[in-house]
Order: sequence, then structure tokens, then C-alpha cells
Amino acid sequence: MHLNKNLIIADTHSFAKPQQAVVTHLQLQLHVDFINKQLTGQAKYRIQQQPGANQIILDVKDLVIQQVLVQDEPAHFTLSAPQPYLGQTLAIELTPTAHEITVIYQTTPAAAALQWLELEQTAGGKFPFLFTQSQAILARTWLPCQDSPAVRFTYEAHIQVPAGYLALMSAENPQETNGTGEYHFTMPFAIPSYLMALAVGRLQFAALGTRTGVYAEPEVLNAAAYEFKEMEQMLESAEDLYGNYPWGRYDLLVLPPSFPFGGMENPCLTFVTPTIITGDRSLTSLVAHELAHSWSGNLVTNATWNDFWLNEGFTVYFERRIMEYLHGPDYADMLKVLGYQDLIKTIQELGPSNPDTCLKLNLLNRDPDEGLTEIAYEKGNLFLLTLENAVGRSRFDAFLNEYFKIFKFQSNTTEYFLEFLYEFFAPEQEIISTLVKPENWIYHPGLPETAIEVKSTRFIQVEEAAAHWHKNQNLAGINTAGWSTQEWLYFLNLIEARLDAPAMELLDNAFEFTQSGNAEILAVWLEAGLKARYAPVMPALEKFLQQVGRRKFVLPLYRQLAANKHYGEKAQEIFKKSRANYHAVTRLSIEKLLNK
Ligand code: BES
Ligand code: ZN
Repeated sequence: MHLNKNLIIADTHSFAKPQQAVVTHLQLQLHVDFINKQLTGQAKYRIQQQPGANQIILDVKDLVIQQVLVQDEPAHFTLSAPQPYLGQTLAIELTPTAHEITVIYQTTPAAAALQWLELEQTAGGKFPFLFTQSQAILARTWLPCQDSPAVRFTYEAHIQVPAGYLALMSAENPQETNGTGEYHFTMPFAIPSYLMALAVGRLQFAALGTRTGVYAEPEVLNAAAYEFKEMEQMLESAEDLYGNYPWGRYDLLVLPPSFPFGGMENPCLTFVTPTIITGDRSLTSLVAHELAHSWSGNLVTNATWNDFWLNEGFTVYFERRIMEYLHGPDYADMLKVLGYQDLIKTIQELGPSNPDTCLKLNLLNRDPDEGLTEIAYEKGNLFLLTLENAVGRSRFDAFLNEYFKIFKFQSNTTEYFLEFLYEFFAPEQEIISTLVKPENWIYHPGLPETAIEVKSTRFIQVEEAAAHWHKNQNLAGINTAGWSTQEWLYFLNLIEARLDAPAMELLDNAFEFTQSGNAEILAVWLEAGLKARYAPVMPALEKFLQQVGRRKFVLPLYRQLAANKHYGEKAQEIFKKSRANYHAVTRLSIEKLLNK
């Protein structure tokens, strides 16, 4: 391979200038204070500076910087004026030979990465809980850092928590609570700042395999261990597909329901929402997704948030390969078709000529959170499926294995990816430029005409059922007994637009959707209920919105409430009652939506 490694990476979401002076190792010491809801301590960095650099720049937001040391001597530093979502530069004056800086700091209540949960917001209800969410650019709200995915550093940490609590990080983790509340962590592989993570609570551990396990509050530990039983096999399948898992252990942490995402791929310790615990293991593809990020994302990382599809598109593809490996092609095909439905819906919502429907984004002067849509996931995945289809699976797998090998522990841009693609597939150049047309996928909006069709045999029956339903308003003679969550989701997606309240009542009497314990199904059902003004969903809706903070579920429901005059001030009312339960990521998104 002869890759042109001199392309300049311009990350417009970080003030850092890593070409001048860059951090390489972090030694973090933090004290976790549940009473004042504050982290206090220091971040000591090993750095490398170029001749004439004179200073190093870190990103900070909503932090109080108390003191800065260079080689253990008090040093001069300046903070710029705060900018929306980006925060401030922390510029530290360097002596020419300096190789170590220390920032003594504390967090503030505004820190958007942190959620401090009250006792009532946990499963046990007796102890508070803290967790972080750093992706995309929130690490800087709890840790001064060069907050760009193009900068990687190793770390070790000393975390002091009250006795009786367990602290966990994106690193090698303890499995038991100790008497002192002092925990030590090491992450020997270089990671970007968005993968820095910390959680503290009354937590217990259950082993699942030799390298896998799950942490949860004792009240949910058994259910979690049952739900995620196949994790060790998932890990083995992933390794069979794309090579060694290099991070040591792979564990899950089940968070309280306010966690704003489905999952977050923090190295060694994926954070997950409890809403995937259904009792029937039907939503475990989410774990496969986060596990897949151990390669696509954590090993090979998007260099800027404009290249986000490199993380998510590859991961969705890989996730479905794992599910295919474990549960067969029919199962994976259902996931692909559901994903395709999401893609079409997203392109429709954004508009087919919207630049945000290109794989390569332009997030200049915007909060990266805005660009993070299903496009990166599902258009990215469909691009890779189209490529696989063109060159054949075995060549495509060879390509992915090589990609992970060549770019491991590096941050990658879309342009390097393209260069690598053309070099690897030089023998297939003709095929690729006619059957795939990569540039169209990457730089053009909408759905490219080269996109392959995704199909699912199991869904044929579901399509017939939906047709029968549309004709007869019943499911008489249709055997739904063996339907999985995916079949029900597909069915609801097919009929949802034409549902009215009487039809919903019929379905509810037959299948009790309003009482569903499956959050994916319930979220689709509740949204349909709001559109159809089917009143019996309202109590379930209020309960759901008060408990669950997963943004993907919560936002569409608020959108429906706010869009329909029939509901008056209901959106504001429910938000007022629920906002204290939401993580900042979810709270800010709802506020934006309701203030539009
Ligand atoms: N890394 C993402 C979550 C994320 C993306 C957080 C951007 C902040 C900014 C994670 O891997 C993810 O994609 N989670 C999905 C689940 C997945 C199965 C599609 C989610 O949370 O819904
Ligand atoms: Zn992901």
C-alpha cells in the first residue's frame, strides 16, 4: 500500500493544534462528590511539542480551571471567550523542553457529559449514580483534553468514590466493590477523547464467558445476564470475521433508563440502555453493534465528525454480519430491511437533495450532534453492501480484514478510505466504477442509483399480513404466533401511516401493544397512537416519557405531541414533569424541538 499520509486533517470541532503540540498519555486523578455533584482533581498529560510551538491548546467547556503546571511548576495559561457548543481554548505556555503538563480543575453543574442521578432514578432507589457520555464533543465538559477524534492517547486513572460504590471506566475494570472506594484504571492502547468514560454506582458484576461479563445494579443483574448470554459467542464470531479482539475484556454496563443512547462503545466496557432487556433476547443486535465498534470506530476511528459514517456505516455492516453468523441469513436480512426502511424515511424527512444525506458531511459551524443521522448508519451500510455485492463476499472480507489491519489504532478520513479502496480493488476497478460509483455515495445526496435491493424472505409473510389487514381490518387466519420483534416492527411500520383510533383499538385488543414490554415496539405504537389520536395510549406514553431518556424513542414522541394542536400544551407539560430525568443530550434536543 502506498497511501498518501500527508493529507491534512482539519477538525473544526476542536481548538487543539496537535501538529504543534499533542498529548500522548493521561494520568487522571478525580474525586467523585455525589453531594455537590462535582468531579474535582487533576489531569496530568505527557505531551510532545514541535520546535517553536511555545504553547499547547486543550479544549474545555464549563470547567473551572484552578491551576496549570508545566513540569510541576505553576505556568501561565489563558482561556478564550466561550463559544456555543465548542467551549473554550485552554492555552498553556510551554518551555521549549516541556513534556508534562498538569491541569487542576473541577466540573460545574453545566457539564453536559455528566448525569448525576438521584436515588429514585436508579433501579434500586437507594443510591445515587453517575455516568458520562463523551461522544461527540462532550469529553471537554468533564476533562480538559484535545477533544478531537484524530488525537489518541493512553491513560491511567485514580478515581476516589464514596465507600460502597463501584467505579468503572473505558479501561481494564475491577469486578468487585472494595472497602476504600479508591479504584485504579489503565488503558494501555491509545484512544480518542470521545471514548473516555466513567460510571459510578452500586454495581455488581456477573461473568458471561471467559472474556465477557455484565455490570448492573443488583436488581437488574439476573435479567441482564440472561438477556446477554450470547455475548461470548458474539465476540468469537466477530474475531472469526475480522481478526483478533485486541482490547482484553469485553463487558457491558447496563445503565439506568435515562441513558440517552441505545449503546455507547466505550472501550472494554460498552454502556447500554436497559430498554434492550426484553426477556426474549430479541434486541441483542445492539450489543453486536457496540461490539463491532471495537474494530470500526475504536480501532479505526473517524478522523473528524464529517467522517462519522466511517464509524457507523462499517459498524452496522459488521453488526449484521455477526447476527448472520449467530442466527443465520434470514435473521440478518430482517435487520437489513428494517434498516433500509429507516434510510428511506430519513432521506424523505431530510429531503433527497439535502447535503446532510451525503456520507461525507460538512458540519462546519454546526454542532456535530446535528449531522449524526441514520444516513451515516444505513446509507453507509448500504454502500458497503453494494460494494460487497459487486466484488463478492470473500474479496470484500479480505478488504475489511486488511482495512482493520492497516489502519488500526489510527484515525482515518473518508479520503484515505477511498484511496485505500481503489488501491485494494485495483483488479476490480471496472466493476466498482460501474456497479458501485463510490463518489456518488460519498459526495452526492440521496439514494444512489447503484444501491442494491435488500430483501427478507421472512418478511414476505408480514407483507401479506399487512395487505390482509388493509383489506379486512383483521388478522384472521394469519399465524402471528411465531413472529419475532422484527416481524412485528416491520408489520407496524407497514400499517402505521393508515391507522385510525378504531383500528388501533382492534389491534390492541388482540395483541396488547399498549402494554408491550418491548421498548422498540412500544415506541412505534405510541407514536402511531399519537398520530391517530388513540386516547388509551396516553397513560402509557406519559409513563414511558417520564422513565426513558433514550433520545431515539423520546424525540419522535415529543415531535408528535408538539405538532398536533389536539394535544395543546401536553408536550410542555410532560417535559416539565420529566426533564429532571433526562441526560443533557436528550434535554437539549427536546428543548430545541419545543422552542422551534
Ligand atoms: N456511538 C453511537 C452512539 C453515539 C453516536 C453517541 C453519536 C453520540 C454521538 C453508538 O454506537 C450507536 O450507534 N448507538 C445506537 C445503537 C445502534 C444499534 C444503532 C443508539 O444509541 O441508538
Ligand atoms: Zn454505533
